[in-house]
Amino acid sequence: MIFLSSSPTPPAMGFTSFIVNRILSFPSLANWAKTQAKQMMIQRAHQIGVDWLGHVALLNTRDWSLDLSQVTTPGLSYPDYYVTSFHGYADGNLSWEAAFEVEVAAYAVHSRVWGAVDAHGDARLRQSYHQILQSHIPSPLKILDLGCSVGMSTAALQVNYPGAEVVGIDLSPYFLSVAQHQAPARIPVPSHPVSPPTWLHAAAEATGLPDQSFDLVSGFLLFHELPEEAAIAILREVHRLLRPGGYFAMMDMNPQSPVYAQMKPYILTLLKSTEPYLDEYFKLDFSQALHSVGFQPPTVVGNSPRHRTIVARR
Ligand SMILES: C[S@@+](CC[C@H](N)C(=O)[O-])C[C@H]1O[C@@H](n2cnc3c(N)ncnc32)[C@H](O)[C@@H]1O
Repeated sequence: MIFLSSSPTPPAMGFTSFIVNRILSFPSLANWAKTQAKQMMIQRAHQIGVDWLGHVALLNTRDWSLDLSQVTTPGLSYPDYYVTSFHGYADGNLSWEAAFEVEVAAYAVHSRVWGAVDAHGDARLRQSYHQILQSHIPSPLKILDLGCSVGMSTAALQVNYPGAEVVGIDLSPYFLSVAQHQAPARIPVPSHPVSPPTWLHAAAEATGLPDQSFDLVSGFLLFHELPEEAAIAILREVHRLLRPGGYFAMMDMNPQSPVYAQMKPYILTLLKSTEPYLDEYFKLDFSQALHSVGFQPPTVVGNSPRHRTIVARR
């Protein structure tokens, strides 16, 4: 575990990044990069024995209309930054295609986090985060998982804190439908909670949840998907939601990691083509942002060669 300085040094913001941004400003090149990025992920999935097409085909056989109606907050309006192309999907996170592929994509993307291809890279990444959480926050009773997607991070929180009441929040009702359906399978029987996680279709910056109602608010791989203004609005909302002494924790790409500075321009192009707010995320000084909304100085720890965990107390 490596403790990091809190101010960001964004190496991937250099000249290579500037050229990559110019390349991606041409729609035809951006579309080409998105297609390449997806192909690379599908190939990587096959390399680690994940049946991408089979997984998607199986999810496609279900009638999701009841799940969708159960999790959807009627009339919810989406922030502008959210209704854009993400991860190579024209409709971003607002589609069944994205919802069915996000789990296998996570296995593929995280298989190289520790260098050599490893089928357990995703599990290892989540475990490395939870080791840090456990050392700071041994027994939270109420937990909120921001940007819970299809529930992988929510299930990890529930398994690591079986006694806690866990709420997963996301803006995509498609992702939440899959989360609700998959939760029983994701949470093994020995750690089955008294009540399973619940799901909330809302923006993390305007949850509508009561003041001071959580002991831990977690954001696992959420913040790199946000423009700066939204990230700060979310930190402000988190501060409101936490009980005094409660913890905010986040795990995401580490801008200080040499992996990004040394990334081949071709790979950086593919990465940036699927992540519209990466530059803003890399530039944001989270320590300063957390301080500005009222948190105590955070602990920042490198939990993988290219990820960091930030823990801050209200
Ligand atoms: C990379 S995914 C998170 C992955 C997930 N936590 C996991 O561990 O697999 C980011 C998620 O954040 C959600 N999201 C983005 N902006 C959001 C916002 N403002 N409020 C709530 N959810 C948001 C997206 O819909 C997406 O599901």
